[in-house]
Amino acid sequence: MPSLPPAPARHALRGRAVTFGTNPFLDDPARALVHEPDALILIEDGHITRFGAFDALRDTLPPDTPVTTWHHGIISAGFVDTHVHYPQLPMIAAYGEQLLEWLERYTFPTEARFADPDYAAGVARRFLRELLRAGTTSAAVYCTVHPQSVDAFFTESARLNTRMVAGKVLMDRNAPANLRDTPQGGYDDSLALIERWHQHGRQLYAVTPRFAATSTEEQLDLAGSLLRQREGLFMQTHLSENLAEVEWISHLFPRRASYLDVYAHAGLVGPRSVLGHGVHVDEDIFHTCHAAGCALAHCPTSNLFLGSGAFRLFDALDPRRPVRVGLGTDVGAGTSLSQLQTLNEAYKVAQSTGRRLHPAQAFWLATAGGARALYLDDRIGTIAPGMEADLCVLDPHATPLMAQRAEQCETIEDLLFVLMMLGDDRSVRATYVAGQLVHDRDAPEAAGERDPGHITSFT
Ligand code: GUN
Ligand code: ZN
Repeated sequence: MPSLPPAPARHALRGRAVTFGTNPFLDDPARALVHEPDALILIEDGHITRFGAFDALRDTLPPDTPVTTWHHGIISAGFVDTHVHYPQLPMIAAYGEQLLEWLERYTFPTEARFADPDYAAGVARRFLRELLRAGTTSAAVYCTVHPQSVDAFFTESARLNTRMVAGKVLMDRNAPANLRDTPQGGYDDSLALIERWHQHGRQLYAVTPRFAATSTEEQLDLAGSLLRQREGLFMQTHLSENLAEVEWISHLFPRRASYLDVYAHAGLVGPRSVLGHGVHVDEDIFHTCHAAGCALAHCPTSNLFLGSGAFRLFDALDPRRPVRVGLGTDVGAGTSLSQLQTLNEAYKVAQSTGRRLHPAQAFWLATAGGARALYLDDRIGTIAPGMEADLCVLDPHATPLMAQRAEQCETIEDLLFVLMMLGDDRSVRATYVAGQLVHDRDAPEAAGERDPGHITSFT
C-alpha cells in the first residue's frame, strides 16, 4: 500500500501554527496560546529542531531542505487521547443501556472475540487508522484480557511508529468465564508483555486492572507489584463513573474509605496513573489526586452517552490544587474518536456546570494537557525544538458550513472554537507521526494512508 512518499530525514513544514507556551488554566488563555500565522517547523530524524516565524528562520534552513506548505491549514501538535478501548471500536453506538448493563450486554461479548489473534489484528489496524484520520497521534489504550490483543495492538503501533500507551486488561471476577484471568495468570501474562513491549521503540506499557469491581483485592495488590517491576510503567483503570457502580464498589470494599482508596491501598495511585472519568468524586478525592500526581481522564461523549453525569472540569483544575486532566474519547462508550468532537461535548458539559471552556483551554487539554497528564510532555503535545514531530494539520474550511462560518472569524481563538464545535475527522487535512506523513485526507483513496518509510529510533 505505501503510496505517500517517505519524508527525507530532514524536511520542513510551513503554515499557520498553534501551540502552547504555558498552561491556559493557570495563565491568561489568550497569552498561553502561541499563534504563529506563518510558521516554519524544521524536522530532523523525527524530531522538531526549529520552530518560529518563517521570515525569521528562512535564512537558517540548511540548503536543499524540502518545505511542504499547508496553505489553508492550522498546524497543531497531534492530539492525545488519554482513555480509549480499541476492542470496543466494533460496538461503538450500542443502544440503550447505562454502564453496568452496557458492559454485560455489549462490551463483554465484543471483547470475547479478541481471543482470536487475527480478529484482534484487524481491529487494531482499523483503530489506529481511525485515530490518525482524527489527528490523534498518542493514546492510552485498553486492550482485552487476552495477551494476544496486546500483541496485536503494539505490533501495529510499532509498524506505524506511533507513541502509544497500552496494556492487558486484568479481570478475575464479575465477568464471564471466558474473559476472566487469575491473579497469578494475569500477573505472569502482564510481565511477559511488559518485557516484550515496554519502551520497545515508542511503545509504553500500562498495567490495566479494568476497575475495582472486576478485580479481587489479591489481583489489585499484584497489579501494584507489577508497577514496581520496571521504570516508567503506567497504570490505567476506571474511577467513579456511574452512581450504581460507586455503590457497588462500596459494598465490595467495605473497609476502604473511598473508591480511590481501593486503588491507593494497592499502590496503584501515583505519577503515570490515569483514572478514567472521576465524575462522582468530592474535594478530598481531587486533593488526593493532586497530591499523588495521578491524572483524571475526562470523557464527555461517554459520560453523556451512558448518562453517567457531568465531570467537574474546573473543580478538578482548581489552581489551588490542580489535578492533571486529559481528554478521553472512551470509545466504545464514547461516540467519536475525534478530539474535536470530544471538545464539542466538553464545552457543553462545562456550560451545564456553569463554566466556560475557552478554546485555548480546550486545545491545550487535547494536546499539551493530555501529554502532561501522561507525563509525556517532554516529548509530545507541543510544537517546540526537541519534541517528537507528531503533528496534525487542521482545515477550518472542511465543509461548506464550516467555511462560511470560518469566514466570519476575526481571531485565532474564534477559528479554534469553530473547529471544536463543527469539526471532526473531515477537518483533519493531514497527520504526521515522527515527521512522517501517515494520513493525507485528500490523497486518492487508499493512497492517503501509509506505513512510515523509515522508522526513526526513539529512546
Ligand atoms: N468501567 C469498567 N469497564 C468499562 C468500560 O469498558 N467502559 C467504560 N466506559 N467504563 C468502564
Ligand atoms: Zn473506559
